[in-house]
Amino acid sequence: MMRRFPSFFAGLTAAVFFAVQPSSVLYGQGASAPALFAFDRATGSSALPNGVVVRDGDASEEITALRDDVLRVRVARGKAMPEDASWAVLAEARRSSVAVTQDVTSEHFGFRTKMLRVEIEKKTLRLTIRDIAGNVLQQDALPVHFDGAAFRVSKAMPLDEHYFGLGDKTGPLDRRDQAFSLWNTDSYRFQESTDPIYKAIPFFMTYKAGVALGVLLDNTWRTSFDFGRELPDVYSFGAVDGPLNYYVMYGPAPKQVVEDYAWLTGKPPMPPMWTLGFQQSRYTYTPESRVLEVAQRFRTDRIPADAIYLDIGFQDRNRPFSVDRKLFPDFAGMVAHLKEENFHVVAITDLHIAKAQGEGYQPYDSGMAGDHFVKSADGSVYSGRVWPGPSVFPDFTQQQTRVWWGTLYRDFQHIGIDGFWNDMNEPSVFSSPTKTMPLDVVHRIDEPGFAKRTATHAEIHDVYGMENSRATFDGLLALEPDTRPFVLTRATYAGGQRYAATWTGDNSSTWNHLRMTTPMLENLGLSGFSYAGADVGGYAGTPTPELLTKWLEVAAFQPIDRDHSELGTGDQEPWVGGAEQEGIRRRFIEERYRLMPYLYTLAEETSRTGMPMVRPLFLEFPDAAPDRHPLDVDMASSAEFLLGRNLLIAPSPWPEQLDDYFAELPSREWYDYWTGKRVEASSGPVNLAQPESLLMKRTVAVKLHPELATLPVFVRGGAILPVEPLVQSTNERPQGPLTLRVYRGGEGDDCAGSLYLDDGKTYAFRKGDFLRMQFSCSTEGDGLWLHVSAHEGSFPAWWSEIRVEAYGWGAPQGRVLVNGREAAGGAATALPEGFSVTFADDGKGEDVQLR
Ligand code: NOJ
Repeated sequence: MMRRFPSFFAGLTAAVFFAVQPSSVLYGQGASAPALFAFDRATGSSALPNGVVVRDGDASEEITALRDDVLRVRVARGKAMPEDASWAVLAEARRSSVAVTQDVTSEHFGFRTKMLRVEIEKKTLRLTIRDIAGNVLQQDALPVHFDGAAFRVSKAMPLDEHYFGLGDKTGPLDRRDQAFSLWNTDSYRFQESTDPIYKAIPFFMTYKAGVALGVLLDNTWRTSFDFGRELPDVYSFGAVDGPLNYYVMYGPAPKQVVEDYAWLTGKPPMPPMWTLGFQQSRYTYTPESRVLEVAQRFRTDRIPADAIYLDIGFQDRNRPFSVDRKLFPDFAGMVAHLKEENFHVVAITDLHIAKAQGEGYQPYDSGMAGDHFVKSADGSVYSGRVWPGPSVFPDFTQQQTRVWWGTLYRDFQHIGIDGFWNDMNEPSVFSSPTKTMPLDVVHRIDEPGFAKRTATHAEIHDVYGMENSRATFDGLLALEPDTRPFVLTRATYAGGQRYAATWTGDNSSTWNHLRMTTPMLENLGLSGFSYAGADVGGYAGTPTPELLTKWLEVAAFQPIDRDHSELGTGDQEPWVGGAEQEGIRRRFIEERYRLMPYLYTLAEETSRTGMPMVRPLFLEFPDAAPDRHPLDVDMASSAEFLLGRNLLIAPSPWPEQLDDYFAELPSREWYDYWTGKRVEASSGPVNLAQPESLLMKRTVAVKLHPELATLPVFVRGGAILPVEPLVQSTNERPQGPLTLRVYRGGEGDDCAGSLYLDDGKTYAFRKGDFLRMQFSCSTEGDGLWLHVSAHEGSFPAWWSEIRVEAYGWGAPQGRVLVNGREAAGGAATALPEGFSVTFADDGKGEDVQLR
């Protein structure tokens, strides 16, 4: 029996609806029920303490409140709801519930929480979610539809709504007018139009006039998202099979949605500090002497660096967990030597295990003995060709298999390898026409929180990479419980941020790829992955010296700063291309190291709240435009990004062009990061679509001239930035004072900053061995009052003095009082754009008065 579309959805026909359907023929499973079904006729409803259930025959929709601002929506075609288990959503979050007030009228079923109103129209079963004042936040545009096992949810798409998230999908920051498939795919040399790519993060944020809402479709099958591409006024999401289960998170502030999402799916763990240093990689540094030579060059050229990567060439015949002893005769000695030079080694450990029967290859032998590999439909161990040739694949959906996988790291960890790289885990299979395993490969889920059962690869594919990185992370922790693991993964799913950092895969050495990097990292950050980077300089192809320089400049302000390149391409280390280029690149990498206290403090914020390090402007400045549209969608801001709340990086939106460009800064008071000079608004239009007059002076437009040696970076008025003396690696103890750069804000700008520090390596911080400080300032007359808090926590500071650099207060008048007494160092010193003063910091806190 086929259901007709109800009349209220006038103009939207069944033909249109199915035009936006993915192919269930290819990916769907076991659809014996009538193919088409619309959930649109109420046959009953029941109130729940935390929500409501509405029925249409055997089918039902259950809407529950996990919190006053987080809802869960499940729709089942059959009598029972599917298993309530998730790889992404934390059990504590799924089990949360708040009492609701039922709200049933002649028109609708529904309920209220303290923040939201939920209505299901009786006539049509259309779901509407409103804020408590009644404003519509989200509304079904079509009935929920099933086609066999596939389903689609369609929502009304207001003209002024914008869409963000879905991980590092390519294209503009705003997903509006785009459509995407989520199916983890090895997409070597992906381009702006390539989809799907490596990750499946089925989370997005809607944002309209300052009001943000998050949606997570927790379904691991192939899913798809359409933001008005098929129908101009409808966005939709669906899957080819599996549970119809989504969560709605209410802001209204976009930062609140980010926190809600972190509450649902978890936060990234505190990373080791060295991972925020500069990282050098290539496919593939061999032999041993070359690895040492590259590392040494950083030290002789005095370019700070913390990590060097071993790509697949270090292994014996590309076999994971092996070492090519001919190329690396003293592997352990090399690692030890690099450690002495303050280099951390990151080794690749792909998940495909060489099918090397009877050859004494331990990962294969022990994996077979423990029955850890996935099986073909006929029950034999599945094998496919990847780097090592014929390979087998661990079944990471079994807890015991993950435990076994973790033990494979013992020897590498023992000799001092500090980071592990999980590549190819979509999984990539060269010998298959689909580039991955057949969909009928069998996984055997054996996992706390899940019913023990088999599942086809069609269901598991998109979580396979995440479970691989989970096995690595948990395994490393089991081996060394007090060392923070570093895992870098290519494929992942929602929640994968709990286990690994990520990168954007095989990009290319082109200016366009440099440009594409920013929205990819911003959307990854909104989707839980704060620790992310792109291959700096580009993976495929050799960058021109100018491209490499500019890329190294921009990446100095992004969370993972890793230079990486493909086999067969030209050298791409920071010294390549001559002394002049090297000089520029060194300056930027040095600046990153000076900013380490700021970066590390941001990393701690991420681990506490989920807030990404790299942020689009609207996340921090949702009210910058009078109509509260996200500034990021304007041409003048399209290439900008924030590093934390206080730094704004403004590369040219057309990085290879020589023309001047305008940058639009999202509030009134900004300073040039490099000079400390206050930004004066440039005359002239910001852009034609958004003339400055329209912005009512809430923003500042600056005209910029692109130059190879410079990158415009601005500091928010009201910021207090902690900066340290230059070191060559994060292992070095900085020598000298902690610098606080204080920037005068305008009316209404808070003046604040903070600093977080710990040993950078262990979990001692959990027992109080950290150092946290808060800074604030105020202006009285033309004088500056700075408050430096007492040190919280037991971790010792590396400094004994604080040097304040103040910008925006004019020339100092002479008197400096610290805790009411004349400062020992005497008067302030004039700087070209401000002044500085140094005083002792005994950890008890200081009130500094500068007049
Ligand atoms: C593919 C990865 O994306 C790339 O970064 C790596 O260099 C190659 N595999 C070789 O391991």
